[in-house]
Amino acid sequence: MATIEETPVVDGDKLMAFVFNAVDEVGGALNAALVVMGDRLGWYRAMAGAGPLTSGELAERTGTAERYVREWLNAQAAGGFVEYDPATRRYTLPPEQAVALTDSESPAYLPGFFQIALGSILDSPRITDAAQSGAGIGWHEHHDHVFEGCERFFRPGYNANLVAAWLPALDGVVEKLERGATVADLGCGHGSSTILMAQAFPKSTFVGSDYHAGSIATARERAEEAGVADRVSFHAEQAAEHPGSDYDLVTMFDCLHDMGDPVGAARRVRQLLAADGTWMIVEPMAGDRVEDNLNPVGRAYYGFSTFLCTPASLSQDVGLALGAQAGPARIGDVVGAGGFGRFRTAAETPFNLVFEARP
Ligand SMILES: C[S@@+](CC[C@H](N)C(=O)[O-])C[C@H]1O[C@@H](n2cnc3c(N)ncnc32)[C@H](O)[C@@H]1O
Repeated sequence: MATIEETPVVDGDKLMAFVFNAVDEVGGALNAALVVMGDRLGWYRAMAGAGPLTSGELAERTGTAERYVREWLNAQAAGGFVEYDPATRRYTLPPEQAVALTDSESPAYLPGFFQIALGSILDSPRITDAAQSGAGIGWHEHHDHVFEGCERFFRPGYNANLVAAWLPALDGVVEKLERGATVADLGCGHGSSTILMAQAFPKSTFVGSDYHAGSIATARERAEEAGVADRVSFHAEQAAEHPGSDYDLVTMFDCLHDMGDPVGAARRVRQLLAADGTWMIVEPMAGDRVEDNLNPVGRAYYGFSTFLCTPASLSQDVGLALGAQAGPARIGDVVGAGGFGRFRTAAETPFNLVFEARP
């Protein structure tokens, strides 16, 4: 029987509010590329602590073209990234923005977040095609901005939390690391987590591995630069193929959900660990239900998950595609299916969940 559909009533005020909000969103989307541009050209660094500058002064200090600098500054001022004084036509980078945009050691450091966003956007046409067929796109197939942005985004958080808070939240792990433990950091990317742990625990030995050979080559360079290459080795391999046994600690930073077969990886970790070993799993902050994640952090992560994490998992065998917002319950299911008897949330930040799994 045919039904008569009622035409929904459109509220004009709500429509215009949505449109104006969308204008701000377009400005925000463009700002991802503008931040990467300002970072690359040294504009933020030249403004940090410099006081009010004209566009001409900033151009001169950075050896760049004034007309571009002026337009970029106006976009930054409209978005609240810099302040503009109409009386003097000078622009200032406030101290808080200076920290967030130039201090790579601060947990508030942002350029990497924008860089991985820009890399994701640049790759989005291929993801759009893949969404029609259901095909995956491997992590290794992305723009360099994705690899470098990932490292630059995550490293400040690891720097602030890993040694100070996350490892101490695990049962007995710091004591083992201080005495001299064996550690495997699987899915290590450019190795920032591996290297930070190696710097903090000189008596321990660390192996980092990732299936992306390009990331492993960069990780080796980073270990040389950090002076820890004697205690850290890096290997290009699937997490589920990492060899060895009797590890005291296996770590995975923001990569379990990217894997096609996280249960297979969990089974391998179970075999790698000593009887009283620990698996530390760092995952993006997420609740178990969609409605728990409908907030700014969840929004960013669902976006990255659409462009990076979900296609990465779909590109591999099994293709479980947990997504970046899997939440503790689904991660716990994976860990349990891998043969672990104990699982708990050991620590969290606004951006991360840290799980402890034990045999
Ligand atoms: C979001 S990045 C995180 C990298 C690094 N752990 C960090 O925190 O900076 C995810 C990483 O997982 C790696 N990866 C994905 N699937 C993998 C697999 N099956 N085995 C090993 N590494 C994998 C990717 O190559 C990528 O480096």
